[in-house]
Amino acid sequence: MTNARPTVEIRAVESPAVKECMDRAKQAEREGRWADACALYEQLVRDPDAHAHTRLAALRWLGRAYLEQGNRAAAFDVLEAAVAAADVTGSPAAVAQALNVVGIVYQMGGDLDQAAAIYSAARSKAELAADAALIAMIDSNVGTVAMIRGDLRAALEAFRLSHLGYQALGLRNHEAQVLNNIGLAYVELGEFADAEGAYTEAARLFSEDGDIARQSDLAANQVQLYIAAKRYDEAQAGCEKLLNVSTDDAPPWRGDLFRHLGVIARERLDFAGASENLQKAERHAVETGDLLLRADVAEQQAELYWTQKRHREMLLSLNEAHALYAQLKASHRIAHVEKRHGALESRFLEIAGQWGNSIESKDRYTRGHCDRVAFFACVLADSMGFNARSLFWFRIGALLHDIGKIIVPTEVLNKPGKLTPEEWEIMKRHPEAGLELVADIDFPGDIHAIIRNHHERWDGTGYPDGLAGEQIPFAARILCVADVYDALTTTRSYRPGLTHARAAEIMRSSPGQFDPQLLDVFLAWAETADIPGRPTPQRMAIFAGGGAV
Ligand SMILES: [Fe+2]
Repeated sequence: MTNARPTVEIRAVESPAVKECMDRAKQAEREGRWADACALYEQLVRDPDAHAHTRLAALRWLGRAYLEQGNRAAAFDVLEAAVAAADVTGSPAAVAQALNVVGIVYQMGGDLDQAAAIYSAARSKAELAADAALIAMIDSNVGTVAMIRGDLRAALEAFRLSHLGYQALGLRNHEAQVLNNIGLAYVELGEFADAEGAYTEAARLFSEDGDIARQSDLAANQVQLYIAAKRYDEAQAGCEKLLNVSTDDAPPWRGDLFRHLGVIARERLDFAGASENLQKAERHAVETGDLLLRADVAEQQAELYWTQKRHREMLLSLNEAHALYAQLKASHRIAHVEKRHGALESRFLEIAGQWGNSIESKDRYTRGHCDRVAFFACVLADSMGFNARSLFWFRIGALLHDIGKIIVPTEVLNKPGKLTPEEWEIMKRHPEAGLELVADIDFPGDIHAIIRNHHERWDGTGYPDGLAGEQIPFAARILCVADVYDALTTTRSYRPGLTHARAAEIMRSSPGQFDPQLLDVFLAWAETADIPGRPTPQRMAIFAGGGAV
């Protein structure tokens, strides 16, 4: 999705020399030679033979070229001059055009509130000038801002206005481009019939216009619609057709096609085919420096590993996708990255929880332990001032803290009596075994420390490293309090769950085990908190009578 940009035809009134300069500048833009484009636009701005309108337009184009070069400060300077110069001419249309480009600069810099405000001012001026084409263009840009914010209904409303405007003017190609954006918004909303309607109409208009490049862009978007609607045969056919389209320059969606083919293969349980295509897409993304495609591929790769129950590789891919989305979010140039990042984080939590639970399923007495420990640990971490970002990674670590138990035989985990020294040795290896599983995943935060050091003791007699006091990573000390509290208050193979009062008494009488400050804060909270399922004297009585707690 791109912003609608001025396409006003002003060449007709110019001398051949000025026309040639404009053509060379546009050619430089098309070829991505932004420095050359800037130099040519500067020449046009200063050219006394050029018409005033052309010089003003060149000032706007210069601002846009600076922006493409990544020089926002220069872009703002030039555009400010463009707005002032337009104001002097007394032409509301010229002011509106200049403001529209200023809006684009704010939008691309991630300042969406400011962009929306500037578009609104631009629209008022365009209305004053009764410039219907400009109004339609600004409406389309307003829709783009709403898409980036993830406000799809507002985006649709703005795109519809823009569509009506272009339709009334008979600007078929512009109409089709807006219909394409409408289709994208409907796909995001899961309203596939409406999306298909918009794409079909856009395809008809592009075909009437003979715009082959945009027809292909549209077909690539349609493939995404088919995948979202689980119409895999049509999606596959669409990909194959597009791969056979020969183009001189590589279209931006080419790498996406391999990703789509990977997803289609995965949904059809053809894991080898899925892996092969996702690797092709990744290579394409790395070669072209396409961060969004890399993030999307990593996310799909994670889903492929999940389907195959390859948890470690799955978390590795998910972590990669997460880091890439975080980078993209900072750029604000891609529609609804914020929303996708949020959705990915939910998936991350879900998968970490499921992996943790898959270990618990070996141990019938600790079912739900990971979720409860993560909850208790997050309450304590929150009280100790962790921010939301740190809490997210802390929760992932808490969910995964016992994954090393995969090496402990089920009969040892479920043994009702005391463990033999040999069995205890195996059990004590689980923190290191857990760390080995995730060692090559470059998690942010203290996840590695939580997994390795959650059985250290404040007095230095814990395992595996025998760390003492503040040598023990803070996150691991928090986890230790939460872990033991849950172990005591839930039923185990060798005893029923204890009440809060009894658990608190035991933990307080074990002064060498916990960070005393953390223990105080946690027990003060747990004493009054309403914790679902926690043993109470009434529940204990039921247990004593043979009922389940
Ligand atoms: Fe543990």
